[in-house]
Amino acid sequence: MNDALTTPLVHSSNHGHTPVMLSEVMQYLSPVAGGIYVDCTFGAGGYSKAILKNKEVKLYAIDCDPDVKPYVKKLQKELDNNHLYFIEGNFGDIESLLNANDVKEVTGIVIDLGVSSMQLDQASRGFSFAKNAKLDMRMNKQGYSAYDFINNADEEEIANIIYKYGDEHNSRRIASNICKERQKAPIETTIKLAEIVRSSFTKYRGKIDLATKTFQAIRIFINNELENLKKALLASEKLLIKGGKLVVVSFHSLEDSIVKNFIKERAQKSSSKSRYSIDISTTNDDGIDSQVTFKILTKKAIKPSKDEIRSNPRSRSARLRVAEKI
Ligand SMILES: C[S@@+](CC[C@H](N)C(=O)[O-])C[C@H]1O[C@@H](n2cnc3c(N)ncnc32)[C@H](O)[C@@H]1O
Repeated sequence: MNDALTTPLVHSSNHGHTPVMLSEVMQYLSPVAGGIYVDCTFGAGGYSKAILKNKEVKLYAIDCDPDVKPYVKKLQKELDNNHLYFIEGNFGDIESLLNANDVKEVTGIVIDLGVSSMQLDQASRGFSFAKNAKLDMRMNKQGYSAYDFINNADEEEIANIIYKYGDEHNSRRIASNICKERQKAPIETTIKLAEIVRSSFTKYRGKIDLATKTFQAIRIFINNELENLKKALLASEKLLIKGGKLVVVSFHSLEDSIVKNFIKERAQKSSSKSRYSIDISTTNDDGIDSQVTFKILTKKAIKPSKDEIRSNPRSRSARLRVAEKI
């Protein structure tokens, strides 16, 4: 999963966030008149804006970060209709969030995983090891933070998280150094944590900052990113109408393999399902294998074009997968 780790995951621009693989996403989603769509990760509204170019659709846009609201307002002002409904919440709860808005079925769902440029670039959010700030990393600005984790979790848990979500083989030494340092004084800042991580390596000749994997792991853990993704995928199966599209852009292999395995499983007959499937259950409450519910539209993950990577280097680890509800 290293490619995703070489730079922050999204392109930074004065306008907030450059949407990744926008034309490919729109080509697959291809909004139809009368359709109801869900943008699970509004961000700066790049995908939402493109979806709403079709004036005959309704769009529910979700984001857990309250800081996206000015972008919602801006887009709502630009529209000459009120077809954009914003829901502040977690896309893991997509089903209940939509049900609370009397929506039971949708025509398309798009999920653009990871953090936005706004989140990375604003030092005070504490996501970036390149900017000095209090450790934080909470996308929704609530609850248990990176500061709480780094200063309170036990050494073994820290090591396990860094290994599991960062694929960091030096996780034990990093966790040990974190625990030694925090005995002297709390580890308050991104820069301090990055220094501790870097000092845990003896020699290094690579290009990637040594703190990258650890920061990514902590972010994934603090925001419960993989569990929320699994919940959203399962809910999409219930929410999408026949012919409805599930479009997911992921930025590292942990996310991509969850998406890949989910749609692969749902596109297979029960008898050919793997015994070694991922931990998204393929059985219903009675223990009977679920039906085939999706058709895969992208046999292999679609990658950004060379041109896009050139103009937006942070897009280079993006992988797009699409499935159609059947
Ligand atoms: C990569 S950005 C999306 C950018 C967007 N496609 C655009 O074009 O501007 C990801 C956004 O998803 C939000 N997000 C991440 N995980 C979320 C979750 N579980 N529930 C809701 N929003 C989430 C983040 O707060 C962030 O704003």
